[in-house]
Amino acid sequence: MVLQRHGGQKIAVVMVGLPARGKTFVARKLQRYLSWLGYSTLWVNVGDYRRARAGAQQPAEYFAPDNEATREEREGFAMAALDDLLAWFKKDGEVGIYDATNADRTRRDIIRKECSAAGVGVLFVETICDDPKIIDANVRRNKLGLPDYAGMSADDAFRDFRGRIAQYERTYRPVEDEEGSYVKVVDAGRQVISNRIEGYLSSRLAFFLMQIRPTERAILLSRHGESEFNLADRIGGDAPLTERGRKYAEALANFVRERPIEPVVWTSTLQRTVATAAAIGHETESLRALDEIDAGVCDGLTYEEIKAQWPEEFASRAGNKFRYRYPRGESYADVILRLDPVIVELEGLRSPVLIVAHQAVLRALYGYLMGKPQDECPYLQVPLHTVIQLTPTETGYDEERFLLPV
Ligand code: SIN
Repeated sequence: MVLQRHGGQKIAVVMVGLPARGKTFVARKLQRYLSWLGYSTLWVNVGDYRRARAGAQQPAEYFAPDNEATREEREGFAMAALDDLLAWFKKDGEVGIYDATNADRTRRDIIRKECSAAGVGVLFVETICDDPKIIDANVRRNKLGLPDYAGMSADDAFRDFRGRIAQYERTYRPVEDEEGSYVKVVDAGRQVISNRIEGYLSSRLAFFLMQIRPTERAILLSRHGESEFNLADRIGGDAPLTERGRKYAEALANFVRERPIEPVVWTSTLQRTVATAAAIGHETESLRALDEIDAGVCDGLTYEEIKAQWPEEFASRAGNKFRYRYPRGESYADVILRLDPVIVELEGLRSPVLIVAHQAVLRALYGYLMGKPQDECPYLQVPLHTVIQLTPTETGYDEERFLLPV
């Protein structure tokens, strides 16, 4: 990747915080962002180790810090997850995300020591929230459906999870300055505090952490309606919509009107996306960053013409579609880099959003949102005349696709 890297430094992002403070939400977002940017990343969750090895259904007392029968077992799971993460770092891993409460200082000191011995830097990311309303809502939304509570009534599960939190509160100690680099995200991003953030990657992560907010708002993705170039199988250009394309613009406007949401609308600066969004009647922001991949010297040609006029280019593109850069144009990797500010804006936005853009750009955005590896990006299915609706969950997005009649 052409990104400025972090000098070969490996980083363990170590989550810290009481249960139901949004650690997993933040951890998974960081993982998706980093792997989209081309870093080799791994997310490990200590709760998953505990569920696999001791069984998912453990009562609140299991988590008591003075429960002699379980304390060692729980620390064993934490260390097994850490060992796996460090083994992965040895095999070219770049950024490992260690998702657990890590609420007490003793555990964190061990993690730091082990990471340092393995040549891995540590960035603590602590999520803090003291608002009981937010915590209760988080428990109800994200915890009651865990395998830990399979077959239990919602009220019993809720009570038990509150009991689990109380056990962790007994030994919780927020990260202290002397522990090294940290970012603390307070009240879902209302305040972000950082300490000893050094180097490119940690700074970039700290900046990203300032933007992300837990939200329930939907993200709608749509390509423009069919254009004259689509009809002629030509790539690039700035062609107007066809009759079918204009019908899609109407269908899209109806689709939005039928929903109880009033999305912010973003388009590219090209006329086919602007015309597709026009019938919706909402204020629209046209962003150059959303313009289609620049096909350089191949702009306006059909694939047959490219094969005849630029056979070597045609073959190189087939060899590595993600890295291939059109002469005087862009590659998918370039598109990802220019979309980074769009991702940052998107993460900070609380309202629903409809993004009307182009195939390559939407593949890259969809790849980020759905946590797809970079090399899959050029092959993701983003067909014409289809709205992709993504609704946030704790670990990613639920997806629905609507093929609109034209
Ligand atoms: C769990 O076992 O569910 C969590 C373990 C931890 O975060 O330390």
